Amino acid sequence: MVRFIATLAALPAALAIPFTINPYNSIWDHNVRPYKAPGPNDSRGPCPMLNTLANHGYLPHDGRNIERQVLFDALSEHVGIEQSSVETAMANAIILCNFQTGQDCGTTLKNLTLLALPHAFEHDHSFSRGDYKPAWIASPEDFDDNKNFNASIFQTSLDVLEGSSHMNYQQMNQVRLQREALSKQDTYPGWFEESKAIQEFEAGFIFGVMGDFNLPNYISNPQVKVEWWKYWFTNEALPYELGWHRPEPKKDVNFLLSASSRLLAARVTSTPSPLVSGAIGPAVAPVTLPAQVNTITYQLPTGTPYVGPIATEKGLGHNNGNGLFKREPEAQATPAPSAGFVPMNPYAQTLAFSDIAKQQARASARMGLI
Ligand SMILES: *[C@@H]1O[C@H](CO)[C@@H](O)[C@H](O)[C@H]1NC(C)=O
Ligand SMILES: *[C@@H]1O[C@H](CO)[C@@H](O)[C@H](O)[C@H]1NC(C)=O
Ligand SMILES: *[C@@H]1O[C@H](CO)[C@@H](O)[C@H](O)[C@H]1NC(C)=O
Repeated sequence: MVRFIATLAALPAALAIPFTINPYNSIWDHNVRPYKAPGPNDSRGPCPMLNTLANHGYLPHDGRNIERQVLFDALSEHVGIEQSSVETAMANAIILCNFQTGQDCGTTLKNLTLLALPHAFEHDHSFSRGDYKPAWIASPEDFDDNKNFNASIFQTSLDVLEGSSHMNYQQMNQVRLQREALSKQDTYPGWFEESKAIQEFEAGFIFGVMGDFNLPNYISNPQVKVEWWKYWFTNEALPYELGWHRPEPKKDVNFLLSASSRLLAARVTSTPSPLVSGAIGPAVAPVTLPAQVNTITYQLPTGTPYVGPIATEKGLGHNNGNGLFKREPEAQATPAPSAGFVPMNPYAQTLAFSDIAKQQARASARMGLI
């Protein structure tokens, strides 16, 4: 033992360095890159996973000009989400890009922020973001931050778990109902739209990436390790330091579809209110959208990106020449029942411009904006 230490100590510094460069390098992912907080001019959006990939530099750190294949590779290599799981979502992200820029974005998503366009991909009752038009906006034209992580909203999701170390499908369904009820309660009159099919697909991703692979029934019945989920959302960083690594096997679209339908089918033990009718039980297929009335142009949120606590605790800031920038305020949350209408699920159905316009027109018409 003594001899071993002596040998190590005798190693030239240059030789010793490679062993300390990357503490997270593992058989699971040979290209781990450290988290770096987003700077004020970086683009971030409502999706915690895409923000996280950008914060690690697995996607361009500025959150702009993201190539389709780069996104597929980043998800597969670093978080174990296969291309089949996100092909439709990526196609819709490009459609949304075309819709907003009035140009053909080709295979390049211009930035992450454009995903925050409300009632298109972005939806109400998120686990961790506020809704675009909450009750407390001053006028119906006004809007709030629906893009940045909001710790108090995320806490309302965690509260449902009552300190459980793990979350199963049933608990996740309960979290989802809680978020729907709070969001419906806090919405600007007319704004709220139930989007459970979309959200359950997103919940499926959470099970796919943060499922605890150390548990015996991981494959047949994954459970989310809550501290991993919490670390990930709160920091928009991957929880390597908590023992997480890219999960195996990778998750394909069948996993996502199965997880989201099992989630919605999971029996709940209490029913928060107010809920829209049909909130409990499997998602129903979208009905044909009503004829479009008028179109409305929504503005995107413009606030600077959210920066999580590890950036300040560990000095992992974005160096933009001014040292660490300060943590900025974040986002907010959102009643009108929408009987018989189900927004399209952009993870599973391809949107047309007219679908986006019609979905947006529904809420706006209810609010008397158009
Ligand atoms: C912010 O980013 C945009 C897009 O990359 C760029 O055009 C602009 O010059 C940047 N602004 C600053 C202050 O860096
Ligand atoms: C993202 O792209 C949209 C559409 O071109 C644009 O309106 C918005 O300002 C951009 N935001 C950022 C932060 O780059
Ligand atoms: C987060 O959401 C809460 C509740 O909706 C809201 O009161 C608060 O202002 C939001 N926080 C930030 C920083 O926007």
